[in-house]
Amino acid sequence: MAGTKGLMDNNTRAAELREQLQRHNYQYYVRHEATVSDDEYDRLLRELRDLEDAHPELVTPDSPTQRAGSDLSDDFSKVRHLAPVLSLANAFDAEDLHAWEQRNLRLLPAETLSYTLEPKLDGLSIVLTYENGVLTRAATRGDGETGDDVTPNVRTIRSIPLRIPVSENGPAAPSLLVVRGEVFFRKEDFEALNRQQEAQELPRYVNARNTASGTLKQKDSRNTAARPLSAFVYDVMAAEGMELTSQSGLLQDLDALGFPVPPEVQSCPGLDALIDTLPAWEGRRNELPFQIDGLVVKVDDLQLSRQLGVVGKDPRGAIAWKFPAEEASTRLLDVSVNVGRSGKITPAAVLEPVFVGGVTVSSASLHNYDQVARLDIRRGDTVIVKRSGDVIPYVVGPVVAARDGSEKEILPPRTCPWCERPVARPEAAVDWYCVNPVCPERVFRQVEFFVSRGAMDIEGMGPETIRTLIEQGFVEDVADIFTLADKRGQLLELDGFGETKVDNLLAAIRDAMSRPLERILASQGIDGVGETVAGLLATELHKLVGSQSCEDNALRPLVQLATEVQAARSRFAVALRSVPLVEDLDEPARQRVKRQLDNPLVELAPRFVDVPQEAVEGRMQRALKPLLPEDGADLSNLANAMAQLSHAAAPLLQIEGLGPVLTQNIVTWFANEHNQKLLTKMAAAGVNLQPAAPTDTAANTLEGLTFVLTGTLPTLSRNEARERIEALGGKVTGSVSRKTDYVIAGASPGSKARKAEQLEIPILDEDGLQSLLADG
Ligand code: IVH
Repeated sequence: MAGTKGLMDNNTRAAELREQLQRHNYQYYVRHEATVSDDEYDRLLRELRDLEDAHPELVTPDSPTQRAGSDLSDDFSKVRHLAPVLSLANAFDAEDLHAWEQRNLRLLPAETLSYTLEPKLDGLSIVLTYENGVLTRAATRGDGETGDDVTPNVRTIRSIPLRIPVSENGPAAPSLLVVRGEVFFRKEDFEALNRQQEAQELPRYVNARNTASGTLKQKDSRNTAARPLSAFVYDVMAAEGMELTSQSGLLQDLDALGFPVPPEVQSCPGLDALIDTLPAWEGRRNELPFQIDGLVVKVDDLQLSRQLGVVGKDPRGAIAWKFPAEEASTRLLDVSVNVGRSGKITPAAVLEPVFVGGVTVSSASLHNYDQVARLDIRRGDTVIVKRSGDVIPYVVGPVVAARDGSEKEILPPRTCPWCERPVARPEAAVDWYCVNPVCPERVFRQVEFFVSRGAMDIEGMGPETIRTLIEQGFVEDVADIFTLADKRGQLLELDGFGETKVDNLLAAIRDAMSRPLERILASQGIDGVGETVAGLLATELHKLVGSQSCEDNALRPLVQLATEVQAARSRFAVALRSVPLVEDLDEPARQRVKRQLDNPLVELAPRFVDVPQEAVEGRMQRALKPLLPEDGADLSNLANAMAQLSHAAAPLLQIEGLGPVLTQNIVTWFANEHNQKLLTKMAAAGVNLQPAAPTDTAANTLEGLTFVLTGTLPTLSRNEARERIEALGGKVTGSVSRKTDYVIAGASPGSKARKAEQLEIPILDEDGLQSLLADG
């Protein structure tokens, strides 16, 4: 290499380096494929920079070294655009689009029109001028006639070529090319920028578009360079020596020259076909890595498009199909406090009603009090509210500039607003909790969940009925539901509880008492224990129970096991206190080990299940090394405690499909005395707490087959479908993998069906499932 360099003159070497860097840059920022390591890239850039430092006459405006941002003063001069930088008219529904097409057809000799459909990028317009292939000027839209010259700033945007064609075998660059595009932040880059702000204890940016605009208009281009802007180019405003006939061809030509062009562009032969694709876009927009605020429909034939001309500032040949705005600003009037069934306390924003995402919103999520503090949201603030697709509306952040000083800090309540007992925040948790197990609001939420469709499915227990039963002292916990039958007379005395209502309710409760055990398990609201995991637990219970007799309550062995694991967890915590650990946690490795020690059941126990007792101490020494003092520490007690913990938890940890986090949640729930009392009470009331007898092997026609259920089936509920599959020895899991044999898909199947298609797993509808079941 050094030898060749010696032979080459500086000019040639600089050109070669520019070409190489440009190519790698294009591959990386436009094609998203790294063709060189970061180190190699830096080495090439350094070599070019050194060469240019020694020979400033070699610096060209398209040199990759010019992206870094200069320290010259960057007051913007004004640029008069070659042609007006036009805007777009909007269409909000199919009718608007039809009217637009009809108007156009009246003006044209054509009978039909075909279209290009492009994402409408939510950024700011930029006009780029290339002279003989070199980027010589970049300007903002400004007022459409004149814009700000932001050339040094635009040079820092990696995906914008400083010279075209980017690749050697690309088409020749026209002598003059003026293109138009959009500058914006990719979603992940914007998030990273905000994480960086947080790390520096600076306020988060709320609006990506405004931040992109602010970034592009920095006086010092080093500030622009420090923030990762992206760009797409979608229009040609002037081209000398370039034949353009269609919009779709234009995008291909720009792509061939090395410009980043919008992905997901669709060609549509007619307006109806185009309109059919629009609804799917509202969901798809969330999956794109950049924000869009709509789509742009363009007449594909550029000659016809030009012929259509302009009305005001809008070309007739293109129209924006706008999504309902997803973000809006409004006033945060108050904060309401919700208590969930686990006691979790969540703040919710009470808002001045605002139209956003297509509906009027008057409340929104504030996530948790940590987030409120981090975003510095105050009562009385003007806030940005976001509602995207089916996601619950949430407060993105405050508009700090709109404050008048009257805004008030928002603090977590000290007591539960429902039972007035002090709230608590468990160590390492982000949320506050009402820890009173008989808090009426918690009980209400638990009962509401317990009786709901996917859970015990008890009809006739709507929110009002539940409230009355709690207020009148009939229901203090979910188990009390099953004692209501003994209180028929008293129930009839309640307001609004007529004979028909009471008898229907009691009949529904009676039916629920004989539901399979997994339904009871899935109805408790144990974190992560839905129907699939509950089914797994119920099936595996046989192994836990072994030969023990459990008469009325097969869950007793699980309670016993959970209590033992809990005790082992406490002993581990006690043993840990006497180990002299390094307290300085500045290294990530130390922080990681500390996290493991704080969470031994999830983080450590699974790794020790199969380790022979005598090897545990050595392994612990190695695992804890970053936290141990240099002269070592005696870990025998701690290792002992770990051996006991992993041994106690092994029966759960070894259930395939359970995993350590679920194990922990199950242990915590079953080891809790209040929950144990619930089970005893339910057993005493005659609720079925026995797993179904193992199925007759002769009828196990689905033995060894794994199913995944998704979407809504026409007649069977998911629970019913699962029960029928399991009755024939089949297994139902929650997610699609290569081990899945069949996916049963109903209406609105979602991502699981898509995954099944990718993995080429057979997808059956309900009829297909029925015939598999019938074959048994
Ligand atoms: S075409 C004459 N295509 O939307 C051409 N505009 O609301 C007019 N925009 O000012 C623009 N994505 O800044 C076009 N794929 C796209 C676009 C797009 C975003 C912006 C552009 C325009 C604004 C109009």
